[in-house]
Amino acid sequence: MTDSNKSSHGEWSSRMAFILAATGSAVGLGNIWKFPYITGENGGGAFVIVYLMCVLLIGIPIMIAETMIGRRGKRNPIDTMTVLAKESGADPNWHYLGWLGVIAGFLILSYYSVIAGWGLSYVLNVFTGSFSGADGEKVQTLFNDFMASPLQQLFWHTVFMVVTMGVVARGVTEGLERAVQWLMPALFFLLLILVAYAMSTDSYFKGLNFLFNADFSKITGQSVLTAMGHAFFTLSLGMGAIMVYGAYLPKDISIARTTVIVAGADTLVALLAGIAIFPIVFENNLQPGSGPGLIFQTLPIAFGNMTGGWFFGILFFVLLVFAALSSSISLIEPAVAWLVETRNMTRQRACVWAGAVTWLLGLGTIFSFNIWSEFKIFDRTIFELLDYLTANLMLPIGGFCIAIFAGWVMKQEHCKKELHLTNPQHFEVWRFLVCYVSPAAVFLVFLNVVGVI
Ligand code: PFF
Repeated sequence: MTDSNKSSHGEWSSRMAFILAATGSAVGLGNIWKFPYITGENGGGAFVIVYLMCVLLIGIPIMIAETMIGRRGKRNPIDTMTVLAKESGADPNWHYLGWLGVIAGFLILSYYSVIAGWGLSYVLNVFTGSFSGADGEKVQTLFNDFMASPLQQLFWHTVFMVVTMGVVARGVTEGLERAVQWLMPALFFLLLILVAYAMSTDSYFKGLNFLFNADFSKITGQSVLTAMGHAFFTLSLGMGAIMVYGAYLPKDISIARTTVIVAGADTLVALLAGIAIFPIVFENNLQPGSGPGLIFQTLPIAFGNMTGGWFFGILFFVLLVFAALSSSISLIEPAVAWLVETRNMTRQRACVWAGAVTWLLGLGTIFSFNIWSEFKIFDRTIFELLDYLTANLMLPIGGFCIAIFAGWVMKQEHCKKELHLTNPQHFEVWRFLVCYVSPAAVFLVFLNVVGVI
């Protein structure tokens, strides 16, 4: 039924194009901004190991499942779930999984865009020489002043949203393929330069030790949930982004192999960011657990003091913004695809609507850092609540359902046909992981957090 259909939004021109786009979605603020700060907040090494285990045992199998579902359905996530549920003789309510994803995408993008806006503003800061020769204290003051200004953040958030929607309006396979092609290698190169700077500091091994020396006594149920949630977040899983990209994937391309490449690249970027950042943290007596401002309070010190720092600093923040852009596009694409396919809107119109809603939601995050910083729901600011709700709850729940759907609801022969793995044992391993290991792991982590086990 769906086999001969092509997605109405176009197809990736090659396997490489899909790898680049999926990597573009996966690699973003999650790797460079979020991974270091949550690692810092959760005590380092042991947290990193739990995160890596989650990527391996939960993330990769579910990423394969989500891409496979997307390619078979060839539509936006909501309709894909409807069609595949029907094909499998299952309850049509599975389409709510698509809805969960569309809503999660809006919520994530609303704060993602604010942080990307911070990145934009830092391009300007480096350009004007604000960090030249700066020490930890100066960089911290600059960051705090910026946080205190809703207007400045609003400006950059607006710029970022307009650019994102502009790119999405042009269509995914065209605008995106070209941008990511040079972005990923350049970002990688810049991270290596930062790692080289970190190696030149006296605290290099202290940083490495923090990142890789596991002390499991620092691990709590909450930190395991954060690590697991981050595995979903960083791989863009559980909300239909990868599903929608899978829908644009030609039939003959191996899903499993491409997935492993994407997940590997994503993990490498996060680890490199960690290796670059923690030595600078310790060298300048900063706190590893200082929260969402961590990279904005550490990396400018490196740029302010290293040879060529002005140039590398500008390049780094520009690349960070581009990495964020290629992720943002995938956050909003499920909603846009749905509006175009079922509400008969043009892509442009759909983008204006989706962009306006997200922009408005973003105000909540901006105010969390200043005028509403005391306003808390469940002891969390709006930003913290959005982050917790999406990364720690919605994405794992979405991923859990995707695993159940691929493992238990879809017909095995359909999965086999989509994955066309040459080695039948690989298929069995994947099935075992997606039927038992991934859903059980997600479930157990939830049970632990609510105190049942
Ligand atoms: N994976 C992105 C990052 O690590 O920055 C964030 C993200 C993109 C999450 C797309 C979810 C998603 F669907």
